[in-house]
Amino acid sequence: MRHRSPWPWVLSLVALAACHATSSVGEVPAPTTHERSVERLEADPARVGPLILAHGGQGSPASRSDGPAAAVERGFEQLEHHAGDQRAAVAAAIATIELLEDDPRFNAGTGANLRLDGVSIEADAAIMDDRERFGAVAGIAGIRHPIRVAEAVADSPHLLLVGDGAQKIAATLGLETRDLATPQARAKLERGYARLFSEPADGPWAQWDWRAHWNFETPAPASLDEAMALLRAAELAAADDGESGPQVTPDQTQDTVGVVVRTAQGRYAAALSTGGTTLAIHGRVGDVPILGAGLYAGPDGAVAATGKGEAIIRERVAARVYDLLARGHLPKDAINAAIREISPEEGVGVIAVSQQGWSAVATSQMAWAARDRDQRHRADTFIQHRDR
Ligand code: GLY
Repeated sequence: MRHRSPWPWVLSLVALAACHATSSVGEVPAPTTHERSVERLEADPARVGPLILAHGGQGSPASRSDGPAAAVERGFEQLEHHAGDQRAAVAAAIATIELLEDDPRFNAGTGANLRLDGVSIEADAAIMDDRERFGAVAGIAGIRHPIRVAEAVADSPHLLLVGDGAQKIAATLGLETRDLATPQARAKLERGYARLFSEPADGPWAQWDWRAHWNFETPAPASLDEAMALLRAAELAAADDGESGPQVTPDQTQDTVGVVVRTAQGRYAAALSTGGTTLAIHGRVGDVPILGAGLYAGPDGAVAATGKGEAIIRERVAARVYDLLARGHLPKDAINAAIREISPEEGVGVIAVSQQGWSAVATSQMAWAARDRDQRHRADTFIQHRDR
């Protein structure tokens, strides 16, 4: 058997779970033949056609690319079903996101992150198309497909609905409710608690008296033991409810799911869905429902981000990528320029498509998959290409 150099895997783990490395992690490695072939394919206007590109969130391992791959297939069916229809891009984006929301391995819908109290989930979702039709929801609970609520908002005169108001819209629409908490999400919060209670606490939480700002109904845990007991109690309650829980491998930190769509007619849409960050108090909202932060779409392309919401908002990532696409930059260059200030520790991933092509970039690993008329691409097979 041929010796497998560890170098491509190091690259894939540090910067290349996507098509192109980010400049924020140091030198940009020389493009491989495979990367160039992707760019050439997309730079040929004769080949520019329908495309769906989805990710399973910044931090999701490339080995989970089967999730986005199945989702883009489903989205593509919708694209073909609605061919020529003004709403084709939106229908495809929703179908893609719904499948990812149902996949318990990703932080959206079923499997979404739990809040600090160990029991609540507050989901955000957003959708936008090239007519600049935008809709978003923040802080909704127990809805199987939050993206459906965002789509309903896009049909209203409003842009963003939060909490109880959004929840009532979901009820009016008759959307399916379910318990979105999974054993995997509890395991992830357990690791979050360990960071929170470590001495000194991790990152920004070390600088902030979170106990003084605790805003849940239940009291704040005084120790790591108390926090773990909260989670065990939630687990037991779930077991009493007959929840079997998906069987999944121990996960890595991961974020928001997202999709960008280009139709055969050059129409665009982008959509996102998330359970937010792991350590969060009640009411925290990230980049997803904020226009131009997590996503943007217009006549020149579509952009969807994932990762540390506070950093994505600060850098106005999606709006900046879109502005560069509109000026004719290649998607990978536009993304790299927009996320330059975001460190790998904060973590960000972006997918984007324009008439110039498409790209998926992350500061760490990121499962993604793309589907055009003739070809399929996935982060895991892409990394294997690099390993030859
Ligand atoms: N990117 C999702 C969030 O930070 O909420």
